[in-house]
Parts: sequence; C-alpha cells; structure tokens
Amino acid sequence: MSTHQPPRTDTPPLLNRPAFGTDFIWGTATAAYQIEGAVDRDGRGPSIWDTFSKQKGKIKTGEHADIACEFYDRYESDLRLHKELGLDHFRFSLSWSRILPDGTAPPRGGRINEAGLAFYDRLIDHCLRLGLTPWITLYHWDLPLALENQGGWPNRQIVDWFTDFVDVCTKAYGHKVKHWIILNEPLAFSVLGYFTGQHAPGRRGFWNLLPVIHNTALAQAEGGRMVRQNVPDAQIGTAFSCSPVDPFTPRDQNAAARVDALMNRLFIEPALGLGYPSDTLPFLSDIARKVAKPGDMERLAFDFDFIGLQHYFRAVVEQSLFMPYLWAKEVTALRRGVPVITEMGWEVYPDSMYRIIRQFSQYAGIKKLIITESGAAFYDTVQHGMVNDTARTEYHQQYLTQVLRARQEGLPVDGYFAWTFLDNFEWAEGYRPRFGLVYVDFRTQQRIVKASGRWFQQFLTAENETSKRL
Ligand code: FCB
Repeated sequence: MSTHQPPRTDTPPLLNRPAFGTDFIWGTATAAYQIEGAVDRDGRGPSIWDTFSKQKGKIKTGEHADIACEFYDRYESDLRLHKELGLDHFRFSLSWSRILPDGTAPPRGGRINEAGLAFYDRLIDHCLRLGLTPWITLYHWDLPLALENQGGWPNRQIVDWFTDFVDVCTKAYGHKVKHWIILNEPLAFSVLGYFTGQHAPGRRGFWNLLPVIHNTALAQAEGGRMVRQNVPDAQIGTAFSCSPVDPFTPRDQNAAARVDALMNRLFIEPALGLGYPSDTLPFLSDIARKVAKPGDMERLAFDFDFIGLQHYFRAVVEQSLFMPYLWAKEVTALRRGVPVITEMGWEVYPDSMYRIIRQFSQYAGIKKLIITESGAAFYDTVQHGMVNDTARTEYHQQYLTQVLRARQEGLPVDGYFAWTFLDNFEWAEGYRPRFGLVYVDFRTQQRIVKASGRWFQQFLTAENETSKRL
C-alpha cells in the first residue's frame, strides 16, 4: 500500500498495520537508570541520579532506582517478551558510568570498565539473536557523578568528556549497532537539572543555564560527528521533547511564540545551522556574545539522518510577569478542565501529534522524523492476573492514528517507539506513574503484559483484523 495518499480531512484514517507501510519502525523506548538496577554491580560508578534520588524530598515517593526492574539480570527474558509483542525495535540507553566509572576515558585519565562494556555487548547480541534492532541512546540523563563533581554540564570540558565516551561506545558496538541517538531531550535535562533543580543534579539559578544550553548543543553536534567518523553507515539522530504551543487567549500569542522557541526550537535550530532562536528569546543572544568561543557557532551544526520527536501533550500558555525571561506560563490541563488527564497531569490531545510532526516537517534540513517516545501513565490495577488498561490502549491508538494521518499526507515520519516497555522509575515522580505496555510488580518483579501490550501484539501480528476507525 502506498504511504503517500492524498490528505483525508473528513474521517480519520483506518488504523491497521499495512497502512503504515512495510518499512515503518515499531518499537519501545527505555532508559538505563529507569530499568537496569544493579547500580553497584560489576564496577559501575555512581551517576548523578544515584545521589539525587537519595536526597530527602527530591523524589515525590522517596524512592530510588537501585533495583528498578532488575533489567540488568532479566534482560534475556524481558527481550524475548518484547519480541513476542511483535515490536521489532528496542531503544535503550547506555549508562555512561557503567562504561567509564570516572566519566573520563583513558586519554583524559579515566579507565574503561570492561565488565560494563560486556553487559551492553551481551544485551546487543541478545537483541540481534532475537531479531530485535537495537537503537542506542548515548545520553539519557545519568551523568557520571565524577563529572558533576568537576562542574557537570556547565563546564565546557563536558564536550570533550562526552565525545570521548561516544568514541569508546561506537568503537565497541558500531560494527553491530547502526542506529544511534546522541541526546535524549536536551531541554529537559538542562532546564530541570540546572535551572529549576527538579531533576538531577538539582542545581538552580539562571547563571548556569546559558553555558549548559551551549555545551549541550555543542556536545550534540560533536557526538554526531564522532558517531559518523566511527560508524560511517550509521543512522544518526537526536531526540527532542516537543509540543505544539497554543495561546490560552488571543492576547497570549507572543507568550506562545516564546514558549515555542524554548520548547521546540532551542536545540534543533542550532543543529540545522540556524543558530539559537534569539529572535524570539533575546536573552539567548548572550550565548553568542558571552559564552561561545570563536568558531563555536559553526560547530553547532550537524547533518542528522533523523530527528527523534518525543511527544506526549500540547502546551497551552498565557503571559505572565512572574516568569523572568520567558514572560509566560503554562495553563495546566487541570485548570482548563480537559476531559482526559494522565497521572502526570498531561492532557491527552491526539491532534497535537499530527501538528508537531507537521511543524518539524517544515524545516528544510530535516530528512526524516521518528517518534522516539510517546505514551501515557494511568493508574493500573491487577485483576485476576490481568491489567485492563483501556485508557492507555486508546492513547496509543489515537496518537498512532495521527501519525498515520501525517504519513498519508506525505510527511516524513517513519517510526513509533512507545514509551515504554516496562513500568519503571519515572524520575522525580518515583514508581507511581506507570507508562509500560508490561506491568511490573516491584515487590516480586513479576511481569504481566497489559491489554495495551496485547493490543500492540495483535495489531502488529494479525492480518487486518484490527482495523479500527477512531
Ligand atoms: C520523557 C523521558 C523518559 C520518560 C518519559 C515519560 O521525557 O525521556 O525518560 O520519563 O518522558
């Protein structure tokens, strides 16, 4: 079936696998700290999340991820289950401090932890044996503590530390892993980690923010170049959190434009050679004037093969005098009284998936988009050994329908990774919000495939039976 059909404006497209085409990528996404556990095993060094999660008051439920899903020991059976669900692509991240316990590689005084490298080697081999394509995320927020102790992301040396790490990983796995994602949601870890302090390392204040943004954008491009050098046939991407932004009232148009610049443009535009969006956010011009070194602005660009979009909700904003620099704030889903709100307080608004794909498709420099995360946390209950998560199933069906709509209009969206495979440690929220297609009983480590997981299985493996108009 052709994937380039004329736009359908009357009824939403029929959801069935063949409509996406045979080359569409189906997978789930995970992250090391959220699932692995085994934080002190086989020579792993501590990361900023190990210490942050143990500080009082940082995690809403007072929990940490020392054990998490025990994926470190259970990956073989977990990945078999993943494959059984019909999902052929598996996205995971590498724990930097498992591979380089001091953060730095040998040329800069650090050492390689062979046992850490060997773990991911086994994991990758197991994926390949099962017919699962591995997608590696090089940085999903768990900075080695040793590097935070030397200044972390505000220290410009991080660009070299990170590039060295990428060098080690691509030399180790590049011959068998061909899909690489450089950073996971640079906006989230820079703002939440170094400006608001809600995430590790929990630092606050404006003075860190511009250096962190700039070092992160440089690391994104330099990391890309390092993968290209070591794995010339790799597909290289980077993954952004993104949301279409709507003004709450017509008066809030400018506020919406500023939030859009922050949420959606800040890291893609420098990568495309367009510089930071200082036209809309003037404070960003201080990066070029005060933070950057000569030649930096050119180094920010990298020719990514794909851009990962991580989309969950739309943003509705209004102007606000209390939020310096941005002069805008979110109007929460709760305040707007929207019909479906997830456990994270996020609005379920499927049309926003279509809109964000369309928005990113407008950049001439983007070749391909992959939805590298989308999903929903709802309260789950186990009844008679089953988890009947209708709301989550509907979320995926409705958001996928919008992906299909975009694809049928010829927009270059080529894959969907559900967030996430297993219920896991949801950062500052602890284990309470469950996003998995597979339920995890954290006392016994038992896995139960939820109805949403079964829906994917049926959808991906059955012939046309699940066609559904939503
Ligand atoms: C994204 C993160 C991912 C997970 C989901 C719910 O922002 O990349 O680790 O927390 O949100």
